[in-house]
Amino acid sequence: MTDYTKRINDMLELSLQPGQPGQNQRLVEAMRYSVLGGGKRLRPKLVYATGQALDVADSRLDAPAAAVECIHAYSLVHDDLPAMDDDDLRRGQATTHVAFDPATAILAGDALQARAFEMLAGNEALDCSAGERSELIRLLAEAAGWRGMVSGQMSDMAAEGQALTQEQLEHVHARKTGALLRACVLMPAALCPTLSRDSHAALDRFATHIGLAFQVRDDVIDVESSTETLGKTQGADAAHHKATYPALMGLDAAKAYAERLVEDACAALAEIEGRIDGDTDALEAIARAIVERES
Ligand code: IPE
Ligand code: IPE
Ligand code: MG
Ligand code: MG
Ligand code: MG
Repeated sequence: MTDYTKRINDMLELSLQPGQPGQNQRLVEAMRYSVLGGGKRLRPKLVYATGQALDVADSRLDAPAAAVECIHAYSLVHDDLPAMDDDDLRRGQATTHVAFDPATAILAGDALQARAFEMLAGNEALDCSAGERSELIRLLAEAAGWRGMVSGQMSDMAAEGQALTQEQLEHVHARKTGALLRACVLMPAALCPTLSRDSHAALDRFATHIGLAFQVRDDVIDVESSTETLGKTQGADAAHHKATYPALMGLDAAKAYAERLVEDACAALAEIEGRIDGDTDALEAIARAIVERES
């Protein structure tokens, strides 16, 4: 498989260049610290893997991949703030508000969000129609905003100390985490005009299932991994009385549920094999890695 980690890291570095007119140096330092300091880069990899399945060139996906990682990094910076999860460790280093200060962390998050849309709006390598470009912007905005990630984060906080039903918890997780992962699949799909309605629906099902599975697994490893492996504080969910899948159904049932979601995702993927131009192997590998990961 192509080394997408290097590809995305180079693209992010290029997209967050310091020393440009109008920049505030400390703000840029905080943005770069938040984005360039590690992370699995799962979302960009999902963008490129979907491109492989749909035969959309990597060069057209650099901007969507970098944009979604900037939104993700911003969400982590804000998620870790004292007013939210109050964490001091992220990706094995001090959280942005600890390394800088809370006001700078808030502003770095804000600027990363705006930068993501600036990239989508301005990137020429996207090589698409104006309509396709505006659809990419719409997809990312919808996933990030008031019906997507931010909505889920709001519900996550309201759920602290509450006993949610499985349906309610799924609503939280599908938004706070699932929405952005779904956008990683739907953005390349928007650049593939030959994709049939049925194949699009199957891909959407794949993305929705792995998005939920990802957060269920995140809840599981918060219980059973270690701070060192996670690069973030193990046990933080229990300490904050978060509504999680292990808390709802027990650890073993949560693990089994994540595995079932990934099986359902792969079944949706199998439906479109042979009906699309590319290869779904990388997408399937990502889906399986989601439930096997320890960090
Ligand atoms: C962590 O996401 C936050 C969630 C949405 C669960 P990741 O586990 O993808 O974090 P990084 O990017 O690898 O640091
Ligand atoms: C956060 O979920 C999802 C985001 C939108 C950032 P968590 O609060 O569980 O993420 P971690 O465990 O701190 O990475
Ligand atoms: Mg949180
Ligand atoms: Mg958190
Ligand atoms: Mg978590």
